[in-house]
Amino acid sequence: MYPGSLRILRAVLIASLVGVLGMGVVLRGWLAGLWAPPLGFSELRSAHSHLAFYGLVFPGAWWAWSRRGAQPPGPRLLGLYAIAVLASTIAFAIHGYSPVSIAGSTVVLGVWILWAFPRFRHLGARSWEGVAGPVVLASAIAIPAVAVLSSRDDPAAGAVVRAFLTWLLLGVAAPAALARAHAPAPAAWIVATATLGAGLALGPLPTLPTRALLAAEGVILALAGLASTSSTPIRIGWTVVGAGLVALGAGLLPSSYPVTLAGLHFAALGPVLVTLLRPRDSLLSGWSYLALVGTFSGAIAAPAFVGGVAWPRISALVGFAVVCVWIVEAVWYARATRGLRGVSSPSMCFQENAPCET
Ligand code: HEM
Repeated sequence: MYPGSLRILRAVLIASLVGVLGMGVVLRGWLAGLWAPPLGFSELRSAHSHLAFYGLVFPGAWWAWSRRGAQPPGPRLLGLYAIAVLASTIAFAIHGYSPVSIAGSTVVLGVWILWAFPRFRHLGARSWEGVAGPVVLASAIAIPAVAVLSSRDDPAAGAVVRAFLTWLLLGVAAPAALARAHAPAPAAWIVATATLGAGLALGPLPTLPTRALLAAEGVILALAGLASTSSTPIRIGWTVVGAGLVALGAGLLPSSYPVTLAGLHFAALGPVLVTLLRPRDSLLSGWSYLALVGTFSGAIAAPAFVGGVAWPRISALVGFAVVCVWIVEAVWYARATRGLRGVSSPSMCFQENAPCET
C-alpha cells in the first residue's frame, strides 16, 4: 500500500469538498437572486460539476477501496491527477471548455481508465469492484460523442451527459460506498448491466428495456443499502435513492432536469459521499442530516410539480445548512485526527477496523 497516495487522496478530497460545496452555495445563492458573482453562471456550474466528479466521486471511491485493502493509484499518478484536476477546474471556472480544461480532463480520463481496466477481472464474481470496468469504458466512449454533439449545438449532448453522470455515480462511487459499508454484493456483471441501462434510460435511450434496468438498479441499491452496516438513516437514504430510481423507471416520476438534478444531489450528498468518506457515527450519518439533504433535494425538484413558491431561496438556505454540517464535521475530524497523531501510522489506516478509521 502507498502511504503517499493516502496523503494525496486526503488532500484532493478536502480541497474538492471545499471547492464543490463552496461553488454550490455560490450557484444556489445566484439562482435565488441573492448575489451575482463576476464569473459566468454556466462556467461556474461546469467547474462545480466537473470538480465533483473528478475530485470527489473517483478519489472518494479510491479512498473507500483503499480502506478495504485495495491499492489506489500510485503517488506519482495521483500527483499528476491532482494537478490535472486543479488546472481543469480553474480553466472550467474562467473559460468553460478551453484547451486547458480539455487537456486536464484527458489526463483525468486516462487515470480513470488505467485504474478501471484491471477491475474487469472481477466482472464474473460477486463483487462491487467489477462494476467500474464496463462503466468507465462506456463513459470513455460517451465523451467524444458529447464533444461532437456539443460542437453541433445538438440537444442530445445533454442526454449523453446525463447517462455519463449516472454511470459514474452509480457504477463507480455507489459500489465503492456499499463495499465499504460491507453490503453483500451481487454478481458484478448484473450490477454493471443495470447501471448501464439506468444511464441510457435517464439519458439518450429511455425505452422499456432500459427503464426496466433502471428500476432493477433501484432495487439492487435499496436492498444492498438496507443490508449494509451503515447507520439506520444512511440505510434509509439508500432505500430512498433506490425507490426514486424505481419510480423513474416505472414512469411515476418525470425524468426532467429538476428531478434528476435533485436525485443526483440527494444520492451524492447523502448515502454515497457519507458512506465513502465516513461510515462511522457522526452528524452526517444521523437523521437531521438526512432530513436536511432530503429538504434540499425536495426544494430543487419542487418546481417540476408546484410553481409560484420561493423554491430557489429555500434550496439556497437549506443547501447552506447542509454545507454548515460538513464544516462542523471537518473541524471535528481535524481535532480527532490531531489527537490520534503518534498513536497510529498511515499504513494502519489502510487496515480494516484500524484505529484511525475515518
Ligand atoms: C457532492 C456534492 C455535489 C455533487 C456531486 C454535485 C454535482 C452537480 C452536478 C453534476 C450538477 C449539474 C451541472 C449541469 O447541469 O451542468 C450540479 C449543479 C448544481 N449544483 Fe451541485 N453538486 C454537489 C453539491 C452541491 C451543493 C452542496 C450545492 C448547493 C449548496 C449545489 C448546487 C448546485 C447548483 C445551484 C447547480 C446548478 C443547478 C441549475 O443549473 O439549475 N451542489 N451539481
